[in-house]
Amino acid sequence: MEALNKKLAIVGLGKLGGLLAESFIARGLLQPKDIIGTVRHKARAEKLDVKHPFPVHTDNRDAVAEADIVLVAVKPQVIDEVCEAIRPVVTKDKLVISILAGVTTRAIERFLSDEVPVVRAMPNTPCSVGCGMTVLCRGKAATDEHVALAQKLFDTVGRTIVMDEKHMDAVTGLSASGPAFIYVILESLAEAGVKMGLPRDTATLLAAQTMKGAAEQVLVSGAHPAMLKDEVTTPAGCTIDGLLELEEGKLRVTLIKAVVKSGQRARELYTDPD
Ligand SMILES: NC(=O)c1ccc[n+]([C@@H]2O[C@H](COP(=O)([O-])OP(=O)(O)OC[C@H]3O[C@@H](n4cnc5c(N)ncnc54)[C@H](OP(=O)(O)O)[C@@H]3O)[C@@H](O)[C@H]2O)c1
Repeated sequence: MEALNKKLAIVGLGKLGGLLAESFIARGLLQPKDIIGTVRHKARAEKLDVKHPFPVHTDNRDAVAEADIVLVAVKPQVIDEVCEAIRPVVTKDKLVISILAGVTTRAIERFLSDEVPVVRAMPNTPCSVGCGMTVLCRGKAATDEHVALAQKLFDTVGRTIVMDEKHMDAVTGLSASGPAFIYVILESLAEAGVKMGLPRDTATLLAAQTMKGAAEQVLVSGAHPAMLKDEVTTPAGCTIDGLLELEEGKLRVTLIKAVVKSGQRARELYTDPD
């Protein structure tokens, strides 16, 4: 992959920030000398500074002053104080990328400046195995070039699409929280295998590969999932009996409600002062 030749500051080098940094380096997009990470606690910074091939410290302003791209990956609850600290050094020639759930580009622009290009990104944890799903939306001053730059970064950890910001809460409920719902389903399928006598590791393998294969079939064929389901379902066969159990257990409505609730909660994580 062609190197970006940009300096990146990751403000909040936690789970997501850390795995993104590792992937940017592994894919050759950035070199360790191009990255600086920050965290809140000094002791944690010292540990991470040893773990990573790039510097990690606690001085947000210093890290951002050096950077062309600022990836903000703190929890939504601390975005106000982080923006307050970095505002004097965030000039309009930098790109700010925020991965914070529930925090709008407008909120970040209000803290920094309307002239600062802001791209909001919603990735998910499968980014850690290069199979993530990231949705991007742009703030007022972000150009196509800024969005393309953000897309290059997130393409290193999976798929990336660009959407209007009005969809970001739905995206949060579906693809950012989604992996947790999928793990519960996967675990339950494996438990079923165990109940029927399969060794647990085999049951987990069968459940995981089946989910991966079914998902891949949807992605590759573009077919409606209902059509693919019909292909598995022989008249008076085994699958239809299982499907009836799913309907009785209200699996569909439960999953729909889970995604909707998570999306609604994203809206509550940060109270916009407007
Ligand atoms: N987890 C997901 O699946 C997911 C998906 C999409 C988006 N997101 C978003 O990604 C963001 C990060 O999530 P995460 O799971 O990576 O959280 P996390 O592991 O808790 O990481 C947050 C990091 O922010 C650091 N931090 C806190 N205050 C700071 C400050 N004032 N200056 C600099 N760093 C500071 C923390 O440092 P210390 O370690 O020293 O406390 C920690 O390293 C959240 O806003 C979340 O909404 C998460």
